[in-house]
Amino acid sequence: MEVVIAPADRLARLAADVVERLVRAGATEGGHAVLGLATGSTPLAVYDELARRHVEDGLSFAGVEAFMLDEYVGLAADHPERYRNVIERELVARVDLDPADVHGPDGLAPDLPAACAAYEAAILEAGGVDVQILGIGTDGHVAFNEPGSSLASRTRLKTLTHGTRVDNARFFGGDLDAVPLHCLTQGLATIMQARHLVLLATGRGKAEAVHQLVEGPVSALWPATVLQLHPHVSVLVDDDAACRLQLAGFYREAYAAKPTWQGL
Ligand code: GLP
Repeated sequence: MEVVIAPADRLARLAADVVERLVRAGATEGGHAVLGLATGSTPLAVYDELARRHVEDGLSFAGVEAFMLDEYVGLAADHPERYRNVIERELVARVDLDPADVHGPDGLAPDLPAACAAYEAAILEAGGVDVQILGIGTDGHVAFNEPGSSLASRTRLKTLTHGTRVDNARFFGGDLDAVPLHCLTQGLATIMQARHLVLLATGRGKAEAVHQLVEGPVSALWPATVLQLHPHVSVLVDDDAACRLQLAGFYREAYAAKPTWQGL
């Protein structure tokens, strides 16, 4: 696990560099590039940067396949906060990603367990995710794997915690009742199968979750801690999100001393 502490705009560029390298190379393991997309506000700066590179540098996403992490259950197909619509708006419509190549769990499916199984199969069929962008909730959730999630979990139906619904109410005009209670989410084991995980966190509200993620014991109580068991994780945090890290000084030194050819 590599921790990079830097201003938010630099973190967004670093994450965009990882995506650009993947997209230009075509894939990390043959076939075509498969990108894992996250929602929430933190990755938006990465999508802004990718959109800029598409326009200014000709970065093309043609042929890239993308998989989203999660989706609310029951939000109408045209609801602006349906994650599928958020990703369309924030990234897909701004680059040349083919919407038909962007997949998400179907929160409107009549048979939700079948939709979850189909989603797992689709990820496998695509050859797995090369680079997965991740955010983190204040309670340490990744995607919508709330505390108590099995570390071996697969895509499934979950209930959101009250805290997550309060956090996300800002996207629903502050109306807690408008935030769905249920979601479909890739499981922790699903996420762990991606070949490179790039997690971004900014702001003091994420400091405890980041401390647990990097330095806490691996535990379902802080689901993101399972990432400690992944061989290739980049944790990109600003000063505020890093303020509780016990070894922050060492992470800064190690990154400053890193050979430039190594990348993330
Ligand atoms: C939601 C998403 C997560 C995201 C989290 C934090 O719960 N399902 O994928 O990481 O919010 O979002 P933000 O980046 O807005 O703090």
